[in-house]
Amino acid sequence: MEVIVVGSYEEASEKAAEIIEKIVKEKPDCTLGLATGSSPVGMYNELIRKHKEEGLDFSGVHTVNLDEYVGLAPDHSRSYRYFMDDVLFNHINIDKDNTYVAKGIGDMDENLKEFNDVLEKAQVDIQVLGVGADGHIGFNEPSKCLVAGAHKEKLDESTIDANQRFFNSRDEVPRSAITMGIGNIMKAKRLLLIVNGNKKEAAKRLLTDDLVDTMCPVTFLKMHRDVTVILEEALAAEIGYKY
Ligand code: GLP
Repeated sequence: MEVIVVGSYEEASEKAAEIIEKIVKEKPDCTLGLATGSSPVGMYNELIRKHKEEGLDFSGVHTVNLDEYVGLAPDHSRSYRYFMDDVLFNHINIDKDNTYVAKGIGDMDENLKEFNDVLEKAQVDIQVLGVGADGHIGFNEPSKCLVAGAHKEKLDESTIDANQRFFNSRDEVPRSAITMGIGNIMKAKRLLLIVNGNKKEAAKRLLTDDLVDTMCPVTFLKMHRDVTVILEEALAAEIGYKY
């Protein structure tokens, strides 16, 4: 596991964008696995800047997103499809037909079948991840068992609390989501985790021992061959991570 310790969120975003840029340049028809939440937003801004000022070309790039809320239509302003269009796709030269965010409304069995089919065919070159305070990745919540494939997941109360900041009230936060499973995530060639915000416990579990625990899903990253973690030095100091 490569751990890059940075001084600020801006630096984290720049480093993450450089990693994505390199892949896009080396393989213009690559598949990027993308994430929502606040952690990758700075990276998306930097990729937009690289596109506009330096001509970074996304015309051949494909993307697939980690997850989507159940019950929100793609044009709902809090859906993850809307979020991705808003924070990235609308500002770069990607073909939207080459971007996939699972559907959160309609027949869920059909949606999951479609999501699993997409993931079966895609070879994700790099999967971007954030981590929830409870250690969830995508929406794989802590549990006695984790699910390998794309599935519907009931959100933990702590995740609903954490995500209510994106909604007008807690009641509006969807109670479930469909998400890539842990197996889908582990099949990506490379994983890029941006640790931002109050993630002390999750970061500690990931970086300061050698245990893999379904009750802290981010610890599964320890089993992947090619993982880059970007961590701010203040958090590194807080968890006693030596570098
Ligand atoms: C949501 C997303 C996750 C994300 C997490 C952390 O629950 N489904 O993919 O990693 O939030 O969010 P943030 O980056 O805003 O801290």
